[in-house]
Amino acid sequence: MTRSDSDSHSDAFVFFGATGDLAYKQIFPALQAMIKHGHLDLPIIGVAKSDWTDDQLRERARDSIEKSGCFDADAFAKLSARLQYISGDYKDDGTYAQLRTALGAAKRPLYYLAVPPSMFGPVTQGLAKSGGAENARVIIEKPFGRDLASAQALNQTLHASFAEDAIFRIDHYLGKEAVENLLYFRFANTFVEPIWHRDYVASIQITMAEHFGVQGRGAFYEEVGAIRDVIQNHMLQVLALLTMEIPDIAAKSDNQRTGPEAVHGATQDAIRDEKLRVLSAMRPLDPSDVVRGQFRGYGDEPGVAAGSRVETFAALRLYIDNARWAGVPIYIRAGKELPVTCTEVMIELKPPRNPVFDTEASGHPNYFLFRLGPDQLIALGTRTKIPGEAMIGGATALVAHRHPGDEMTPYERLLGDALQGSAGLFTRGDMVEAAWRVVDPVLAPASDQSEVAPIAVYEPNTWGPPAAEKIMAGDDQWHNPTSEEAPS
Ligand code: BG6
Repeated sequence: MTRSDSDSHSDAFVFFGATGDLAYKQIFPALQAMIKHGHLDLPIIGVAKSDWTDDQLRERARDSIEKSGCFDADAFAKLSARLQYISGDYKDDGTYAQLRTALGAAKRPLYYLAVPPSMFGPVTQGLAKSGGAENARVIIEKPFGRDLASAQALNQTLHASFAEDAIFRIDHYLGKEAVENLLYFRFANTFVEPIWHRDYVASIQITMAEHFGVQGRGAFYEEVGAIRDVIQNHMLQVLALLTMEIPDIAAKSDNQRTGPEAVHGATQDAIRDEKLRVLSAMRPLDPSDVVRGQFRGYGDEPGVAAGSRVETFAALRLYIDNARWAGVPIYIRAGKELPVTCTEVMIELKPPRNPVFDTEASGHPNYFLFRLGPDQLIALGTRTKIPGEAMIGGATALVAHRHPGDEMTPYERLLGDALQGSAGLFTRGDMVEAAWRVVDPVLAPASDQSEVAPIAVYEPNTWGPPAAEKIMAGDDQWHNPTSEEAPS
């Protein structure tokens, strides 16, 4: 097992799975963007089984970047000049020997495993056996297991070759500008923290709605379903950012190291510790807290088994058993073929304790609304007086809206951080296990989905099965995102 030197920048970038889909859709465009912004000046080596040449890899890169709509001739020329290709089987020692030769004088490579999870073990072992794990870092992509037991086994496999601080698990949601802003907004605004707890917060909702279906990825989706695909990871990570305690940066500071980098490192560690703590305080789900749905027509998708009971929609209610959140219902909903594509967080506040005016009457209560994608929006729900003689009010949303500009994509941000050894935006092994612990009781083996919460068919373009309403506590109602520039 090899530790990474967190002070050092990686000096080579190697990506396994160079001919695959992930490299095509995400890695090539991110590499070009990093070069364009002057953040990448090192050898780049693609590895895969196909018998390709360097030029074929360059062609693939060009094609991918053109398709992404971001082609930049200068940056691409530089990328192209740095790209090399190694053809080899991931289970063959010879592949790693070739790689060692190609790495030349590089001492601190970053390896990106854009390969199926079944290959994580063989590749990390091959790297370690060849001496290539020394001082190196490794990036892996979800799924990090398919339940708690398999996630624990995966962590063990990875730890046999790489130390935890050298492993960078990508959850691309954590690389999103709007998700980073959740944390910033919470802790950079004086007015938030005093009310950010059970005395003032009535409920928390997160909805990840996708207007599209499984987009030809039926075979992949059959192995996961909505809970494994986006709730165990993206949604619980967002929830952890919303509900964690204030990170204790001072406790993490290392007196031996000073300056902005040391503060950054301490902050990142402290944040991940608090995220772990709150994930561990989430009560494991009971099947009665979950509603699963499948859109009509899913069964006709290529790659989907006849009579499949895999969920394309899930709605759940959960609780965090700690002093800050005890008793506050938290609702999470994610689904395909819903009326819009939009991810929103709604924090609803309780009404004033001694209402003087009509606050309890009708209309919206006070709330914080965060739209995390596709555009960014923050809205504060307030009540203001309607002009006239009577002291009667109405709902007024104070809205800040941003169209995505030319900000970094999640992959550019995350690859850049991994190259620098900055691990704050990556999911630690203990956090992955804590998140599986929450959803584990409602997961069923792919072979028998009927064991867990029942599944109901819903019509495309609706908000999932009507049963999703039933998990709301008291008078709570789902807030349905729209694609409008102001909340509905
Ligand atoms: C991926 C899931 O992790 O996230 C997909 O596998 C989902 O099913 C995607 O569509 C959504 O990501 P984003 O960034 O478009 O919200």
